[in-house]
Amino acid sequence: MLNLKTNIALLKGDGIGPEIVDSAVAVLKKIGEVFGHSFNFTAYPIGGEALDLTGVPLPEETLKGCLASDSVLLGAVGGPKWDTLPGNLRPERALLGIRAGLGLYSNIRPAKLFPALREASPLRAELAEKGFDLVIVRELTGGIYFGESGRRTGTNGPEAYDTECYSETEIKRIGRVAFKLAQKRSKRLTSVDKANVLESSRLWREVMHQLADEYPDVAYADLLVDNAAMQLVKNPAQFDVMVTSNMFGDILSDEASQITGSIGLLPSSSLGDGTRGMYEPIHGSAPDIAGTGKANPIATVLSAAMMLRDSFFLEKEAKTVENAVANVLNCGYRTADIAAGKPAEALSTAEMTEKILDKIGQ
Ligand code: IPM
Ligand code: MG
Repeated sequence: MLNLKTNIALLKGDGIGPEIVDSAVAVLKKIGEVFGHSFNFTAYPIGGEALDLTGVPLPEETLKGCLASDSVLLGAVGGPKWDTLPGNLRPERALLGIRAGLGLYSNIRPAKLFPALREASPLRAELAEKGFDLVIVRELTGGIYFGESGRRTGTNGPEAYDTECYSETEIKRIGRVAFKLAQKRSKRLTSVDKANVLESSRLWREVMHQLADEYPDVAYADLLVDNAAMQLVKNPAQFDVMVTSNMFGDILSDEASQITGSIGLLPSSSLGDGTRGMYEPIHGSAPDIAGTGKANPIATVLSAAMMLRDSFFLEKEAKTVENAVANVLNCGYRTADIAAGKPAEALSTAEMTEKILDKIGQ
């Protein structure tokens, strides 16, 4: 595709959000220059930033702006300043709201170990040597994060509850995403649930088994979530595509990120039925390092690469970004989180971004 003109909504958010989004925007601009595309950026407030400005974490104007855009790039939301607000006003609520508002039920979180970062991985040397390259497909708009919840008075006093509920339709649509992705990769799919305890997981498993019959070329397996958590550190190379519920995917993707060396490396894409997606690092707003220049921009830069591929079908451009990141790591450049015992040599967010831009330009 030549000379693509496209509108990207920026949701910088809180903490390190603005710094890492700026890095990814610089990368997209550079890609635009090199390949002749024009990316038009419009920023909208979200999370704590939006609360301070408008009194709500997800202003209508932000959702409208995202709906009117071709794609969305998000930094991170949340911070101690807003931690004591009631649940419906917390910055995190905006994230759930925007995912639901844009119909983004499918969250793709690839986790692979860059050979250059084996040292940074907490895995034993022989496991790190083997490497891994897996993708977690997380259901994003259902389950316990969206179920009925509340407070009430029980027999022992005040109590609180959250409910996990999945419809067959929700399970089927995320299941199809995962089976199709597995077909494009090594044709292995593991579905993670807790079917030995939860009724919602038993329905999840039934539906996945129906789908497995429809995709006979995919080798399918079930795995209980507690076992999955263990297997991920015991032998991550066994996995290719994993599909799971909203909450299990949230937890397992943090685990998967840490064995790659740092949570600062993992991108994600969230899509619905169309091509408009939201792209964000899987990490949070890291308020403790906000403004210090210590944030690793790689997860957000790789999220921008996923946008190029999944929303704009610019495969070559996406690869160029991914190769630039791999190249920079191969050259030994590190931000503080992956500097493994050599903090003095760590690059700042802006310096790391410059290195990536240089590689793209080469
Ligand atoms: C993530 C985050 C969010 C989530 C929070 C901040 C609401 O942990 O994207 O993984 O739970 O989805
Ligand atoms: Mg999370």
